[in-house]
Amino acid sequence: MSETKKLYYPDRAFSKKARIKNMCEYEDLMKWAKEDYEGYWGYWANEKIDWFEPYSKVLDESNAPFYKWFTGGKLNVSHQCIDRHLRLRKNKAAIIFEGDRGDKQTITYLELYRNVNRFANLLKNRFDVKKGDRIVLYMPMIPEAAYAMLACARIGAIHSVVFGGFSSEALRSRIIDAEAKVVITADGAFRKGKPYMLKPVVDTALEEGCECVEKVLVVQRNHEDIVWIEGRDYSYNELIALEDDECAPERMDSEDPLFLLYTSGSTGKPKGVQHSQAGYILWAQMTMEWTFDVKENDTYWCTADIGWITGHTYIVYGPLSMGATTVMFEGVPTYPDAGRAWKMIEEYKINQFYTAPTAIRVLHKTGEHEPEKYDLSSLKVLGTVGEPIDPPAWKWYYEKIGGRRCPIVDTWWQTETGGHMINPLPGATPIKPACATFPLPGIMAEVLKRDGTPVSAGEQGLLCITKPWPSMIRTIWQDPERFKKSYFGEIEKDGKPIYFSGDGAIVDEDGYITITGRVDDVINISGHRMGTAEIESAIKKHPHVAEVAVVGKPDPIKGESIFAYIVLKNADDTFGEEAELVKEINEVIAKEIGNIAKCDTIKIVPGLPKTRSGKVMRRILRAIAKGEEIKQDISTLEDPGVVAKIEACVKG
Ligand code: PRX
Repeated sequence: MSETKKLYYPDRAFSKKARIKNMCEYEDLMKWAKEDYEGYWGYWANEKIDWFEPYSKVLDESNAPFYKWFTGGKLNVSHQCIDRHLRLRKNKAAIIFEGDRGDKQTITYLELYRNVNRFANLLKNRFDVKKGDRIVLYMPMIPEAAYAMLACARIGAIHSVVFGGFSSEALRSRIIDAEAKVVITADGAFRKGKPYMLKPVVDTALEEGCECVEKVLVVQRNHEDIVWIEGRDYSYNELIALEDDECAPERMDSEDPLFLLYTSGSTGKPKGVQHSQAGYILWAQMTMEWTFDVKENDTYWCTADIGWITGHTYIVYGPLSMGATTVMFEGVPTYPDAGRAWKMIEEYKINQFYTAPTAIRVLHKTGEHEPEKYDLSSLKVLGTVGEPIDPPAWKWYYEKIGGRRCPIVDTWWQTETGGHMINPLPGATPIKPACATFPLPGIMAEVLKRDGTPVSAGEQGLLCITKPWPSMIRTIWQDPERFKKSYFGEIEKDGKPIYFSGDGAIVDEDGYITITGRVDDVINISGHRMGTAEIESAIKKHPHVAEVAVVGKPDPIKGESIFAYIVLKNADDTFGEEAELVKEINEVIAKEIGNIAKCDTIKIVPGLPKTRSGKVMRRILRAIAKGEEIKQDISTLEDPGVVAKIEACVKG
C-alpha cells in the first residue's frame, strides 16, 4: 500500500484522554449540529464563554450574509483570556518568550494581567483611545505585541496588525483604510542575530495621507537610535511603569468588531477582514482544545508571526482563552543553525508544535539529521497550516520529528474563517498523509461544482461552507458590497448564496477532503497569501512597464514562487542587461508591498495571451511557467502566435 493511502490511527492511550476520543463521538457531535444547529452552538457558547450578560439569540440570519451570533450577549475577550484564569492559574506561565539571540522571559497569567491592564490604561488615559477606535500594530514578535492586542480588546479598540515584513507603502494604505488613531510599533528587533528597524518604516508611512494618526507608541526593543517626533511619538518603556495595573474591561457586545486583518484577494487592494468578539473567541478556544488537545500542564508552540491570522488565533487568542502556556519566538528556526526549533522543543519540553509546510521543508533540507541531536519525546501533537503539505515533507515530519508517535493535524482554514475548519482530531481521526480529512464538528463544509451540486468521489470541486459559523468574517471593513461579492457572490446551494473559500478540493471515496489549492488568482508563497492583482499593480509603477501578468509557479520549498511576464512600453527601451531590469522591478515590489512579494522569475515578453475581449489567459501563462505543454485551444486568442513567442522567451 502506498504511503498516502495508508491510514495512521491515533494512539490508544492518547485517545483515552483526548477531548474527542473516537469517530463515534465525532459523528455524534456532527449529528447534533445537523439536527439542532442553534442548540449545538448555544450549548458551546454557554459552556465556554464567561459572559457578563447572556445572549438572547444564537444566530440571526435576518440580514444574510451579514450573519450575527449570540446577539444581546456582553463579554470581554481580554477577560476571557486572562482575568477568568487568575483564580486557578495566576502563577502559571501564560507566555514563554524566546528572543532571536536566545534571551528568555516567562510571563505568568498574573503578570500578563498587570501588563495588559497598564497597556490598556496607557491607551485609554494618555492617548484617549475609545471603544471602536482603530489601532494599527506594526510589531516584531515580542510579548508587548500580545499585550497590545489584549489591551485593545480590553478597552474595546479594534486592532489591525500589519505584518512587520510589509513595506511603508503597504503599511500606509492599511493605516488609511482603517483610519487608525494610534500606531504601536518597536524601534526595531533582531533577526539572525542582527538588529533591524521598524520605526523608520512607520515614519515613512506617516509622511503622507495618514492625518488620522495622532500618536505613535514605540516599544524600545533593540535600543537603536531613532528619530522621535515631539508630541507624536512616545516611549512605551518610559510610560508603562506610570500606569495603574487595574483597568476595568469594557462590556462589549457579541457582535462588536474585535480586530481587522488585511489579506489579499484575487482582485484589487487587500481586504480588511473584520472579526467579531464572541463568535471569534468561542471558536478560537474550541479549536485550540479540539485540534491540539492541549492539557493543563502542556507547553504549546506555534511558530507563526502575529502579523498573520495564525498568530492571532493560535499564538494569542486560542491558547490564552483556554488558559494554556503559549511559546512566542522572535527569530527564524534556521538561526543560529537548523536545530534551533528542535533545541527549543527539548528545552521547553514542548508538547504541541504547529508550523507551516515551508518551514518543515526548509528544516528538512538544511538540517536533515539535526532532529537526531535533540530529545523530542515531549511532543504529542504536530500541526501544519497555510499550504498543502507534500507527502515527503509529511513523512519526514511524522518520522523524524514526531517519532512515528504523534498525529499530524493538517489544518485547513483562512483569515476569513477565524479558526480551524477542516483537520484531523488527534485522538479520533484515522489520518491519511497530507490530507485535511474532515470538517470539525459543527462546520458544514462541502466540495461542490459551480452549480452547487456535490462532486463525485475523486473529482476536483470548489470548497464551500454551506452554513454560517460563529468565527466567520463579518464584513470587509467599510466595504460590505465587496464582502458579499467576494465570498457569497459565486455559488448558491438550494437557491441560497453560500460561502466560497477560493480553494479547490477533492473528496475521496471515504469522505476525506484533500485541499488542492487556490482556484482564483491568489498565490500561496511559503503559506503567505498574495494577490496577483496587488503584485501586478506594484510592478506597473515601474516607468517602463506597459503590461504585466503574474502567476504562481510550483516551488519545491516555498510551495509556489512568483513568476512575472512583462511587456515593456517601448520595445526599443534600452535597459542594458535584463538582470538590471529584474532588480529594479523587485525593488519597486519591495517598496510597494515588501520583500515577501518579490518575483523569483521575471520574463520580458513581446505580448500577453489575451482573448478577443482583452482577458489575459493566465492558465496558458501558468502552463508555460511550469514548462508544460499547452493543452488549451489557443485559436480563440487575439493573437495565437504570441504563445510560441512567449515560450521561446521563457526557454531562452
Ligand atoms: O489556499 C488555502 C491555504 O491558505 C489560504 C488561506 O490563507 P490565509 O488567509 O493567509 O490563512 C493562512 C493560515 C490559515 C487558503 O485559502 N491553506 C491554508 N491552510 C491550508 C491551505 N492549503 C492547504 N492545506 C492547508 N492545511
